[in-house]
Amino acid sequence: MSLLPLLNSRFATALIAVGAPNAQPLVQAASRPEFGDYQMNGVMGAAKALKLNPRELAQQIIDAVDLAGIASALEIAGPGFINIKLDNAYLAAYVETALKDEHLGVEQSPAQHVMVEYSSVNLAKEMHVGHLRSTIIGDALARVQAFVGMNVTRQNHVGDWGTQFGMLVAFLIEQQQEGNADIALKDLEGFYRRAKARFDEDETFANTARDYVVKLQGGDAEVNALWKRFVEVSLSHCNAVYQKLNVLLNDGDVRGESFYNADLPIIVDELRQQGLLVESEGAQVVFLDEFKNKDGEPQASIIQKKDGGYLYSTTDLGAIRFRVRELKIDRCLYVVDARQALHFQQLFTIAKKAKFAPESVSLEHIAFGTMMGEDGKPFKTRSGDVVKLVDLLDEAQERAFALVSEKNPSLDETTRRDIANAVGIGALKYADLSKSRTTDYIFNWNSMLSFEGNTAPYLQYAYTRVQSIFRKVTDYDQNAAIVLTEPAEHALALELARFSDVVHTVAKDSQPHLLCAYLYSVATMFSRFYENCPVNQDGVTNASRLKVCDLTGKVLAAGLNLLGIKVLEAM
Ligand code: ARG
Repeated sequence: MSLLPLLNSRFATALIAVGAPNAQPLVQAASRPEFGDYQMNGVMGAAKALKLNPRELAQQIIDAVDLAGIASALEIAGPGFINIKLDNAYLAAYVETALKDEHLGVEQSPAQHVMVEYSSVNLAKEMHVGHLRSTIIGDALARVQAFVGMNVTRQNHVGDWGTQFGMLVAFLIEQQQEGNADIALKDLEGFYRRAKARFDEDETFANTARDYVVKLQGGDAEVNALWKRFVEVSLSHCNAVYQKLNVLLNDGDVRGESFYNADLPIIVDELRQQGLLVESEGAQVVFLDEFKNKDGEPQASIIQKKDGGYLYSTTDLGAIRFRVRELKIDRCLYVVDARQALHFQQLFTIAKKAKFAPESVSLEHIAFGTMMGEDGKPFKTRSGDVVKLVDLLDEAQERAFALVSEKNPSLDETTRRDIANAVGIGALKYADLSKSRTTDYIFNWNSMLSFEGNTAPYLQYAYTRVQSIFRKVTDYDQNAAIVLTEPAEHALALELARFSDVVHTVAKDSQPHLLCAYLYSVATMFSRFYENCPVNQDGVTNASRLKVCDLTGKVLAAGLNLLGIKVLEAM
């Protein structure tokens, strides 16, 4: 069992025994080493309810709790905290079990069906830096969910529908006639810009474009084939980025807005049948008491416009209905920019009211802030243009290559490139994932590529240090018992045993930065351990310590893999 649930359940039993069955144990990892390994913070609450002296109640709980073989010391601190020190033998056994477990001790939850929707780019243009956060945060969350035993469905809700596609198809036909289509599509960004320019300056072209929108929605075969071609090319640009970024998304995960097109009239009908739909100024709307407009009246959410057109949110209602009814999803995570918070609050409210999703299904907006430049404004090129994501990734790899070449000039170029690719992309992803996702952050090449501090290069390097130990020691007794004696050994083993707690917290709260902070702590504890506890000295190997090193390497690699970051055997 994970440590936190174990300690919580033992203290819950003790609280019943002392007459406080409704009190929460509130066990958490100790906030400082001098507070032990864990602390139990629930005594004050229980004492208040029972009108008892907290320190006296703490003593009663210590007398009642059964932590034999788990804790070696329990101490009352301050107004009534209980500090818990785990037993070395217990930690040793934990490490032993985790080493043999494919999930390294991470407890498996009963499988639920979890959907993670991420990336969800608009296909009219190429991916830009604004798509980085959704893509990598979503990918990490999908990996974490799978690792705790969930059945995971990834969805890439791409924007592949709407009026701009009429314009793009019209331009594609023009380019084809001039024999330029293939070349023009190589640069999607340029393609969009030129199509838009044509649309703005040429009335005939604009009319053709509008005509194509109608044809596209009416199912016209020729226009649909061209649209498909455009979508495919656009997706191949995305796939190249996904591959470079080492994210799992593939074509099988794509279910774009167009997929729900035929469901939109049904959504309107169902909302009407349920009495939720009202006509307002010619549009079909749902009024939501939960959201007030500036005059304090219920806010109207438009479902169908006056001209019969549908909206972004109508498609999203179709998607929820499909995800719940057809895909049978229990928990939906939408990894989307925080600026869409209101959209999702309203969407989820309507979906629940309309029973597109029953109460039991959890709908969660996993919001994230904006990536900022050094000037504190949204990240742009010097000339103020949006930065293509592929260019940013190339730059990360180039910068890492320069660094690696400087550090290791003797390595051959291919090896240096391989290292640089893993380090560059890892650094970029880690810099983002290690920040609390809800806030904006300032993008900085130098700090993310540093080999010191809470960075990917530091963790990747820590992993290679562990691997290098096993290159030197090939023969040791893998059946030797693990015996922990030194404080640094205890601290490292404790950290390794916390892996399950941390991964479960990330699965529950969708906060990858907690996993980053944890891995950084593992690497730091490992350094301290390695300095203080000889592993292989003067030809004498310490098998117990080697086993702890082994688990350290495995946890670092598994943890980084959950973040979508590659490890290297040497660098
Ligand atoms: N394509 C949208 C955009 O770029 C994001 C889609 C988010 N997902 C959703 N289900 N609405 O803004």
